[in-house]
Amino acid sequence: MSTFGKLFRVTTYGESHCPSVGAIIDGCPPGLELDVSDIQVQLSRRRPGQSNLTTPRNEKDLVHLQSGTEHGVTLGTPIGLLVKNEDQRPHDYSETDLYPRPSHADYTYLEKYGVKASSGGGRSSARETIGRVAAGAIAEKYLKAVYGIEIVAFVSSVGKIHLPALLSPPSLTPSDDNEDNDNVDDAISEEFRSLLTTITRDEVDKHPTRCPHSQTAEKMTQRIIRAKDASDSIGGTVTCVIRNVPAGLGEPVFDKFEAELAHAMLSIPATKAFEIGSGFRGTEVPGSKHNDAFIRRPDGSLGTKTNWSGGVQGGITNGEAIYFRIGFKSPATISQAQATAQYDGTPGTLAARGRHDPCVVPRAVPIVESMAAIVVMDQLLQQEARKAAASRLPPIKTLPPTMVMPKGV
Ligand SMILES: Cc1cc2nc3c(=O)[nH]c(=O)nc-3n(C[C@H](O)[C@H](O)[C@H](O)COP(=O)(O)O)c2cc1C
Repeated sequence: MSTFGKLFRVTTYGESHCPSVGAIIDGCPPGLELDVSDIQVQLSRRRPGQSNLTTPRNEKDLVHLQSGTEHGVTLGTPIGLLVKNEDQRPHDYSETDLYPRPSHADYTYLEKYGVKASSGGGRSSARETIGRVAAGAIAEKYLKAVYGIEIVAFVSSVGKIHLPALLSPPSLTPSDDNEDNDNVDDAISEEFRSLLTTITRDEVDKHPTRCPHSQTAEKMTQRIIRAKDASDSIGGTVTCVIRNVPAGLGEPVFDKFEAELAHAMLSIPATKAFEIGSGFRGTEVPGSKHNDAFIRRPDGSLGTKTNWSGGVQGGITNGEAIYFRIGFKSPATISQAQATAQYDGTPGTLAARGRHDPCVVPRAVPIVESMAAIVVMDQLLQQEARKAAASRLPPIKTLPPTMVMPKGV
């Protein structure tokens, strides 16, 4: 369906070529200072036509606040956000009247609903993600102001070009040891940990690919241009880190923090994979090396020496940085001729016209950040509600000490 979240509820609407797209956000706390510019920043990072690496569809994606604020302050009532679709060219898609685009959603939407938007991807188009990005920007404003939470995503690979191993999660550096050997690095590399601790959006945006390593970014550019020149496309991965999230978020057992995160991320169009912390690579590491030993932090709280867990244990945040990676496929719409079949099964050749992204990951970065912000916000409101309700109960003095956190921690 089109609504995500329980207490911070985001409903998006709109298709690729209808008059507007947008969102209704219910559950935003009242009293938050909110201006259009807070939202526009992320929408402008998502918009098409930013460089020669993205679709040339020319949209400014200016957001119009419809409700839920007055004098720059949220009222606690539903916030309505609207962005006009301006550069509509439905005729670009006429050949897809006959052909479902291979690996796009034309066939499945038609099978499901029995009717589909007459042009473009309709609801399956990435235009839909505008509502998510706008909602995520509002969540982020609250999270930053109240908790100092920071969310930064970046492109970690395009095709086979990855950030250098030292800057990459262990899952990107396959072991060349023999199959029976337990000799693996026993921690995330210092360089990668440091990148996760310090990376900023300004650094990410220095290069149009949104890869924070300039030499790799240049190689990625050439790879995307090669795909574009061949009327083809290429996929990639986005890595995201969320810093300063308090311990205790996540709603076991079905709404565990990483389960909600995976749900949010895999709802983004073109996603094919999700991993958190050590991910698939972690399966190769024995427990003796994979466990994140506890340490006392300078402020007296418990922290972990390593962070293979990616900041989540038992579906609950542990206060360490949360980091995860998402795989995006090579976009389906390519103007290269493809042997395929029409809706009625007649074999034929499709060379899709229209304007398309040769690689979606540079534009996916703010979408990933926004979905992450929505998840954190929703889980935070749930935990705050629980804590507030519990705090009104009289203190229990009879519990055995093993049932409560020792004093001083
Ligand atoms: C930022 C972004 C831009 C996209 N641009 C295109 C595009 O230009 N052409 C295309 O075929 N798919 C594009 N997609 C992906 C499609 O929307 C998606 O592949 C399609 O809806 C089918 O869904 P699925 O890949 O999740 O199965 C884009 C996705 C994102 C996140």
